Amino acid sequence: MPAADLQDDNSFDQFARDAVYRVIFTRRDVRSQFVDEPLDDAVLARLLSAAHHAPSVGYMQPWNFIVIRDLERRRQVRDLFLAARAEETESMETDRRELYRSLKLEGIVESALNLCITCDRARSKGSPLGRSHNPEMDLFSTVCAVQNFWLAARAEGVGVGWVSILDMAALKRLLAIPGHVVPIAYLCVGRVSHFARRPDLEVKGWGRRVPLSSLIMSERYAGVGEDRLKRLTDETSR
Ligand SMILES: Cc1cc2nc3c(=O)[nH]c(=O)nc-3n(C[C@H](O)[C@H](O)[C@H](O)COP(=O)(O)O)c2cc1C
Repeated sequence: MPAADLQDDNSFDQFARDAVYRVIFTRRDVRSQFVDEPLDDAVLARLLSAAHHAPSVGYMQPWNFIVIRDLERRRQVRDLFLAARAEETESMETDRRELYRSLKLEGIVESALNLCITCDRARSKGSPLGRSHNPEMDLFSTVCAVQNFWLAARAEGVGVGWVSILDMAALKRLLAIPGHVVPIAYLCVGRVSHFARRPDLEVKGWGRRVPLSSLIMSERYAGVGEDRLKRLTDETSR
């Protein structure tokens, strides 16, 4: 953004600020609303560029982006999903099983394409800036790339659905991912009929958004205080 568009305090102008919050508040995990339409490569390139501008520990940029278009391969991934979902159902509390089974939890073959975002754990090659004590920071960095992709996609009108109900070892074999590389996110990506106003799991009665004020602590874990901040967050999220 050219410096001329910035306010004196370095903030964006109101219009640009509103756009950022709008993207954040209207992003959805999409499973059901994909339409049968290809995704323009120019749009996909912009989304990948947004992902690639994520922060990363030691500027490691540990990600790769596997674009999966082939329908047969996607059917194989969906089979992995179906098997994992069946296993997960078994570990569910009995009274939630029916609801779980009724949920649509992926759009693997209905979406325009799938994207597997991976983390190459060996990319910092012996100089693990920021990872000596916390080696998992490369994984966290890759999640930042996923979120960038997801938010940019919302701005472009592109739906994204994250599928994590998968046997990752089987997924690695299917996509020929080497041992030192971790699949972080398997995403369904494509044009959609619309974006739902509320999370699907909220609409279906699976969960509710926790009041933000109940999650804020003061000075230490479970520390009470910050009443003004809590009141303001409640007013903001109303
Ligand atoms: C790490 C991660 C894994 C997820 N895995 C799945 C999944 O396997 N299937 C699914 O339907 N949604 C999955 N989701 C989406 C969540 O269900 C969704 O983000 C949540 O219900 C809130 O809805 P929203 O994203 O529309 O705000 C995942 C989200 C994250 C961040």
